[in-house]
Amino acid sequence: MRVEIEVWRQDSPEADGRFETHVVEDATPEMSLLELLDRLNDQLAEGGVEPIQFESDCREGACGACGVTVNDTPHGPVPQTPSCRQHLRAFGPGRGGSPNLDSGSSASANLDLGSLLKLRIEPLRSAAFPVVRDLVVDRSSLDRLIQAGGHVDVTTGTAPDADDLLIGHDDAELALDFAACIGCGACVAACPNGAAHLFAGAKLAHLALLPHGKLERTRRAGAVVDQLDGEFGPCSSYGECVEVCPAGIPLTAVAAVHREKLRAAFRR
Ligand code: SF4
Ligand code: FES
Repeated sequence: MRVEIEVWRQDSPEADGRFETHVVEDATPEMSLLELLDRLNDQLAEGGVEPIQFESDCREGACGACGVTVNDTPHGPVPQTPSCRQHLRAFGPGRGGSPNLDSGSSASANLDLGSLLKLRIEPLRSAAFPVVRDLVVDRSSLDRLIQAGGHVDVTTGTAPDADDLLIGHDDAELALDFAACIGCGACVAACPNGAAHLFAGAKLAHLALLPHGKLERTRRAGAVVDQLDGEFGPCSSYGECVEVCPAGIPLTAVAAVHREKLRAAFRR
């Protein structure tokens, strides 16, 4: 299968970037997006050309390192799926083609080995994520947000028994749903305002639901919201963030930011 890739190249944060077009002739529908980039990098290295820089770690949707923009969509055309889990078999032929969401064998047949697929791959785009090189962006703005909400209570003594602190099943499940955020930053890149409310709300809601997190709830909310306002855009509740979130974080996370902010304002 032939894949034509328009890929963003940028030598340094200060340099002007540009798109380069490359072709991978021997791609297969089973390849993931990152495997396609690996294949392209092999070709470039064989030709003595500097490989394309991109990030990845787990390659199974757990770490959030791999986010890129594919055909104008953070992570790629398959909704709620991180870049490393986007497979060529699910993409429609030609750039901008609708994704084929049936990722089974019939979808592979749909994009057969004679197909031509066109992809445009660029970094996650946001003022909060400056490009470091090629497809790699600096997402330390998200780290600073986490740092602002850091949990610093220290309880000394022996380790508590596992059943010392009972948490209701529903609260535990809901907290885990919010804890599923992998910190990829796609929500920020998808937001026309560059807001990080979905990310921040996932952290705030996760901790506010658990007894351990209640100790610093007010301080945390104030610090996170200050950091949010300082480095990211305002939320207008467009909901674009939810569409691209690979962890399925719901829009109620955004509501949690507003709720925690209001609560902190009354209690500070
Ligand atoms: S909320 Fe979703 S899109 Fe945003 S950083 Fe977390 S996992 Fe990624
Ligand atoms: S490489 Fe870890 S989520 Fe994609």
